[in-house]
Amino acid sequence: MTDTTLLLGQTLSFAADPFEVPIDDAVRHQSDGAVLIKDGKIAALGRREDLCAEFPDVKRVDYGKSLIMAGFVDAHAHYPQTTMIASWGKRLIDWLNTYTFPEEMRFSDPAYAAEIADRYLRLTAQNGTTTMASFTTIHPGSTEALFQAANTRGQRVVAGKTCMDRNAPEELRDTAQSAYDDSKALIDTWHGKGRVTYAITPRFSPTSTPDQMRALGSLWAEHPDCLMQTHLSEQTDEIEWVKSLYPQARDYLDTYEALGLLGERGLYGHAIHLEEREIARLTEVGAAVVHCPTSNTFIGSGLFDMAGLKSRGLSVGLATDTGGGSSFSMLRTMAAAYEIGQLRHSALHASQLMWLATQGSAKALHMQDKIGNLATGMEADLVVLDLASTEAIAQRVDQASEFWESVFPTIMMGDDRAIEAVWINGVRV
Ligand code: GUN
Ligand code: ZN
Repeated sequence: MTDTTLLLGQTLSFAADPFEVPIDDAVRHQSDGAVLIKDGKIAALGRREDLCAEFPDVKRVDYGKSLIMAGFVDAHAHYPQTTMIASWGKRLIDWLNTYTFPEEMRFSDPAYAAEIADRYLRLTAQNGTTTMASFTTIHPGSTEALFQAANTRGQRVVAGKTCMDRNAPEELRDTAQSAYDDSKALIDTWHGKGRVTYAITPRFSPTSTPDQMRALGSLWAEHPDCLMQTHLSEQTDEIEWVKSLYPQARDYLDTYEALGLLGERGLYGHAIHLEEREIARLTEVGAAVVHCPTSNTFIGSGLFDMAGLKSRGLSVGLATDTGGGSSFSMLRTMAAAYEIGQLRHSALHASQLMWLATQGSAKALHMQDKIGNLATGMEADLVVLDLASTEAIAQRVDQASEFWESVFPTIMMGDDRAIEAVWINGVRV
């Protein structure tokens, strides 16, 4: 049976990357727009008048002046850190040891993992996020819990078992062989099942031995259509530690590169303090870096160079990094990206922030032809934004003289109250 719905409202889609072409050429905004959803896909996109005439008998949902756009794509998160978000006062390595590792130990219990996976997908959907790339814990059951919860919702998700065989508590250590075996078994069972994509996941160089990194590099070579996600150059003392653990490495990226963990489908979270060779290599191979702005300020990591890296042609996604990041909201994440841009004397335009949170992240995940934009044939993962969700925002929007001026207050001041509706796989959630 076909399930067809016509959504009416303002619509926003992208014809190109607004970092690369003038904003008016990159953006398609329709103030009287319509989106036809059919069988989980976007079947048509156009003007309200035209689509209402073309599909007179279809069920309609009228969102008035609200903005219909692609659901947000969070390119780097840790769902097991849901309950420890906003933990006070530590920098990266102490934060991991004090808060993160004790919480991740609880995921040896599959029932606990299932409870938190469900809660996490609920909280993120309430904030308009329809796809995420998440780390899990070393327990294969924690990865299965997220895949199960996502497939039950028909939701696209990327995740992988987090691998660590050193510099972590005994209960959170696997081995090179078990990391390979467990990850491979999860790939065989889950990769491509429903809307699941597997990401091979060494946590970061300090918590994997070279043997483990090599084993995961081999696994990636055997499954090149999998993604690979990890962390790179987040804090300066972390980088010093990496250099002491890998004295042969030319730089942090080389600890991955030398062991088979640099590739086009690689996702490198944070990437704040990059050296010139690292930028050149990441760009050359077409890998993606992921900007995690609320995390980078919360843990005190540094100011990501968005303008510089985008101008080099590097693929950049945007992410919450829950729970190092201090919010589940991609709106809040865009606001933090804007603020970091300002601190670097580069004001990101609202269209660029929206692009990063949708197409940019989807591109980083190599899913830009499926999600992250409104276009015919794309999967129907949508968010509807109320651009006047609070009195404070509404009174500012009253003064707006053009479209982007009416959107920017929601980016800077909006929260889950701005999320009027979320559609996942063509179904309202
Ligand atoms: N580096 C290694 N693990 C983590 C993590 O869980 N969060 C953040 N922000 N950085 C990391
Ligand atoms: Zn992370």
